[in-house]
Amino acid sequence: MRRVRERRRESAEPNNFDGELIKMAGIVLVGAQWGDEGKGKITDLIADDFDYVVRFQGGNNAGHTIIHGGRMLKLHLIPSGIMYPHITPIIGNGCVIDPKVLIEEMDRLEADDLSTHRLLISCNAHLIMPYHRDLDGASEHRLGKAEIGTTRRGIGPAYQDKAGRLGIRVQDLTDEHIFRKKIEAALAEKNDILGKVYGLPIYTVEQIAEEYLAYAERIRPHIAEVSPLVNRALGACQWVLFEGAQGTLLDLDHGTYPFVTSSSPTAGGACTGVGVGPKRIDRVLGIAKAYITRVGSGPFPTELDDENGKRFIEIGCEYGTTTGRERRAGWYDAVIVRYAVEVNGLTDLIITKLDVLSAFDTIKVCVAYECDGHRYSTVPGHQSVFHHAKPVYEELPGWNTDITGCRTFEELPKAARDYITFIEDLADVPVAMIAVGPSREQTIMRRWEGR
Ligand code: GDP
Ligand code: IMO
Ligand code: MG
Repeated sequence: MRRVRERRRESAEPNNFDGELIKMAGIVLVGAQWGDEGKGKITDLIADDFDYVVRFQGGNNAGHTIIHGGRMLKLHLIPSGIMYPHITPIIGNGCVIDPKVLIEEMDRLEADDLSTHRLLISCNAHLIMPYHRDLDGASEHRLGKAEIGTTRRGIGPAYQDKAGRLGIRVQDLTDEHIFRKKIEAALAEKNDILGKVYGLPIYTVEQIAEEYLAYAERIRPHIAEVSPLVNRALGACQWVLFEGAQGTLLDLDHGTYPFVTSSSPTAGGACTGVGVGPKRIDRVLGIAKAYITRVGSGPFPTELDDENGKRFIEIGCEYGTTTGRERRAGWYDAVIVRYAVEVNGLTDLIITKLDVLSAFDTIKVCVAYECDGHRYSTVPGHQSVFHHAKPVYEELPGWNTDITGCRTFEELPKAARDYITFIEDLADVPVAMIAVGPSREQTIMRRWEGR
């Protein structure tokens, strides 16, 4: 019997023969564009069905806005499932943690009567140190016009040290002797770079130890061995949501390098960023806006530098949750979403902010690119081609009607339904949900059976 259950769990679809319903348990949620797709809203919406919500990469570069129980929450590090008392929120080993920011976020939630005592933090996650923040800013300054446009939160330098094996991990906070030794080893290099390369102030071991060991007191009860815990949960058919930050095109390997973040926001990152095998993943949800935005530098084929672009920013309130920067905006790019379907193995697409398109008489969708007389229907591998790619558009009629009150697909005006069907066909995966406003009830559920 157990083997049958196991086999069923491994299938991509829920299965209920023999009258027994063995439902999917390991679900990954990722951004299908350049971030800010509304991952926080969708996580919050479906989180009730889960036992665990696990962040697997990134740090406080993320900014997830959630409207829950009539109040607005902005989360940067803590998983978006924190609002549900039955959920165990987890920060996985693939994340980088600025303990100061984490504690501030915990304090803010507690002040809002949202308990954080269930939060678990992987002992193997890496710490963002003060010199990482300094180096992030200094490196951006040095790049000048060629800057990446990072959030300057120290994300890149922290992952650099992780790969360079000079990183300091959460578990190091629990042993003062080891912690001091590691700071000493790191400062031997960092102080040279800060002082000699950038002419910035340097740090003493004492200075950092004093600050971070105070954080350690607060964080210690939350430190856990996450991988065995999540594997046990999945083995017991508990529901685990792997919550991605950033988006596919910001992936270090698969994004628009070098204009990317330094982690793996694609679905594979959930395996390495938590410590579970790929066969544990049953379903992969990709979130995409009904248009597209990007913060920071880098190529963006459908970017609009006109009145329509301004309308996306105004109507869609396109300002970064973390840095407050105005986002760049453009028409929906089906080539990028199709790429996200492949790279992540998306089983479902979730379209957010469809309501923002209600303001447009006609709506464009990029279906291919043109560059140097060639047509590309997939994201070109060569960066120069992508940088110079001109979008090939198909134009669809708008609906000019308020759709924020629609709760079923049938209630949407025909032109809106046609728009969804059009992008669904181009992506070649079903559109499982459609968001028509920022609050959780402003969502059309098409393919979400829940628990
Ligand atoms: P995330 O980083 O992917 O979680 O996305 P952000 O929270 O940074 O940005 C998405 C913004 O859009 C947030 O302010 C959400 O409240 C808002 N939002 C999400 N879904 C919808 C929607 O369907 N319509 C509208 N108008 N706003 C939405
Ligand atoms: P969420 O989770 C949008 C962008 C930055 C910059 C690049 C590298 O809210 O979708 P970094 O500080 O990570 O080294 O910056 O990545 N970026 C995001 N853009 N949403 C995010 O997160 C982002 N996190 C990082 O703007 O271009
Ligand atoms: Mg965001």
